[in-house]
Amino acid sequence: MLKEKDLLDAPSVEEIAVDGFDFIEFYVGNALQSAYYYERGFGFDLVGYRGLETGKRDQVSYVLKQDHVYLVLTGALKNDDAVAEHVHLHGDGVKTIGFRVRDCKKAYETAIARGAKSAREPEAVEDENGKYVSASVYTYGETLHTFVERKDYKGFAPGFRPVERKCIDNQNDHKVGLAAVDHVVGNVEVGRMEYWVEFYKKVFGFYVYQYFDKADISTQYSALLSKVMANKAGSVKLPINEPAEGVRRSQIQEYLDYYLAPGVQHIAIATRDIIKTVAELQRRGIEFLKVPRSYYDALSERVGKIDEDIEDLAKLNILVDRESEGYLLQIFTKPVQDRPTLFFEVIQRKGANGFGKGNFKALFESIERDQAERGNL
Ligand code: FE2
Repeated sequence: MLKEKDLLDAPSVEEIAVDGFDFIEFYVGNALQSAYYYERGFGFDLVGYRGLETGKRDQVSYVLKQDHVYLVLTGALKNDDAVAEHVHLHGDGVKTIGFRVRDCKKAYETAIARGAKSAREPEAVEDENGKYVSASVYTYGETLHTFVERKDYKGFAPGFRPVERKCIDNQNDHKVGLAAVDHVVGNVEVGRMEYWVEFYKKVFGFYVYQYFDKADISTQYSALLSKVMANKAGSVKLPINEPAEGVRRSQIQEYLDYYLAPGVQHIAIATRDIIKTVAELQRRGIEFLKVPRSYYDALSERVGKIDEDIEDLAKLNILVDRESEGYLLQIFTKPVQDRPTLFFEVIQRKGANGFGKGNFKALFESIERDQAERGNL
């Protein structure tokens, strides 16, 4: 539960009861090969499949699971399919952020009554695995929120065949340890952040939990604005970024120029042991942003005493930030598809619920170094 004093901007409507993140679906150019990347690279297990063999004629989906994290990778089987069009325009990216709810119909109807745009009306399926209800509404760009009411539904969702393909690298000491989705960040166009902040306040009844202005997160070259939307329980956190004017092109603008729409910038996944998780991800070939050595020289002065060895953190390029109630450790991957759009974050919270202003600057400077290398700064 988030602390009352940290909830900055209270919504005027009752919160839509969202328990947490349920799944995240990507639309990709080649779901079969993407599944392999998330299995071997990130340590997910394949647990579900839907495609021609299950009677799905136009799309194919792979469901990957690691602890509480479910990712769905969907590809098109036909050129005139919505997935194919999405990939053609945006490249690989996040299509759906699923929310676990206790009452899908109520969540959907409340959202619609408050002005959300419908993408799919509630659909209840009862089969031998139980009852499953879902419905979808639009958020920024072409991104959807799907409300998922599972009751005691066994398996991922109706229409999916259970699969048991344990990642062969996950045996022995090679567990990655990604545990749960911590937050999902959206990039929107310049001047549009406030609109989407209002959307989450008025439609979902979410709070502004934290904000960052130009003074907090500008580097020598570029800047951005960010507000963190959250439910009161703190189980759903959705920061929203917009580009701000700087000397050069904002990295948020680089995203928008390649994604060609607002969309999900990064997915943060929590671990209980970030040093172990990141060491294992690096062993598997996942590429992370680099942090200059000077960051670690100044670290103990900035964050005080921490449990981890600073040399271990420096070796792995892990960032640390302190808040009043504790600290957090974070690291960011390079983009995970051809276009410089979506990336992942790995985070470990040690008493801190927020996002750490100190890390923002370090993060943006390391993104800028890569941006410059791409010729986009
Ligand atoms: Fe993040």
